Amino acid sequence: MAAGEGAIEIEVDLPGGGVLAGMAEVVREGLSSPFKELPPKFFYDERGSALFERITEQPEYYPTRCERRILDRRAGEIVRSARPRTLIELGSGAAAKSRVLLDAMRDAGTLERFVPVDIAEDITRRVAAELVGEYPGLAVEGIVCDYETHLERIPRPEGALIAFLGSTIGNFRPTARRSFLARIATLMYPEDRFLLGTDLVKDPARLEAAYDDAAGVTAEFNKNVLGVLNRELDADFDLDGFEHVAFWDADNEWIDMRLRALAEQYVDLRALGMRVHFARNEEMRTEISAKFTRERIEAGYADAGLELLEWWTDEEGLYALSLARPAAGSESG
Ligand code: SAH
Ligand code: AVI
Repeated sequence: MAAGEGAIEIEVDLPGGGVLAGMAEVVREGLSSPFKELPPKFFYDERGSALFERITEQPEYYPTRCERRILDRRAGEIVRSARPRTLIELGSGAAAKSRVLLDAMRDAGTLERFVPVDIAEDITRRVAAELVGEYPGLAVEGIVCDYETHLERIPRPEGALIAFLGSTIGNFRPTARRSFLARIATLMYPEDRFLLGTDLVKDPARLEAAYDDAAGVTAEFNKNVLGVLNRELDADFDLDGFEHVAFWDADNEWIDMRLRALAEQYVDLRALGMRVHFARNEEMRTEISAKFTRERIEAGYADAGLELLEWWTDEEGLYALSLARPAAGSESG
């Protein structure tokens, strides 16, 4: 590669036919159980990714703006501490905030490679093409995969900053979150750093507004998953037959996002040879978005074999970024 010339490599590690091809069994199970549930990863087809970007612009959805402000203030410090040559970003999406880290790495003279890891192929390809244009000499090695099943297949060169931003970790169930953090710790070399964005527990009214914006974008994002099922599994969900529900579950400390059937209805999922009944007012869970405290994150890190190095919040204390490294004596590399 000539000096100044970037390179793009995209590896697609999804079941044949893409992420959506792997959905049949998960959807069958989720819709057969007495309490129906779908995993949030199916939100992110091209329309879903675009709707998520629009959510981040809504006045009620503060996490993205808060995280951006913390990154603007701390990126230099993060890079000086970690001296990373590679930025590995899990669930990178449109990579808007990744650029703050890439800028800091470029300014520190350490930047070599960006590894965006995301289940959404279109957005990952677009971001890769944009970034090689914006950062001369940058190598972009995108991995299109489900990071829950493919984490260990992600390249892990020494000298990496592994970022998991946007509080996407909140979309895991607690047990999956614990094992995910432990797997990350196992993958890290001693000098690597882990940068995690986490939304914090706060006034329920503020939280519920963030998941039910007045413009209805979150509602559209939520219902989009039904459109994905219609297209991919030859289903006939009536998107107008459901309403968006999001409420704060104080016991579990998470926002519970659901779709509520407005009337009794039957839905055919022809690709699964399955007919599903919804009672009037029946709710199906589509996402949880857990909120955190410093104590819980610190304890979660300790359980996983990670050590908290830094904890930064925005001025209002709504959102936190934390930096961690493998705990001394833990297996790593
Ligand atoms: N990090 C960005 C985007 C967050 S949206 C931000 O902070 O704004 C969540 C991102 O994670 C989406 O781009 C989605 O496609 C991706 N994602 C969700 N579940 C995933 C999974 N199981 N494996 C890989 N990527 C996933
Ligand atoms: C991607 N994830 C962190 C978002 C969240 O806030 O849990 C997804 C989202 N769901 C509704 N609004 C945003």
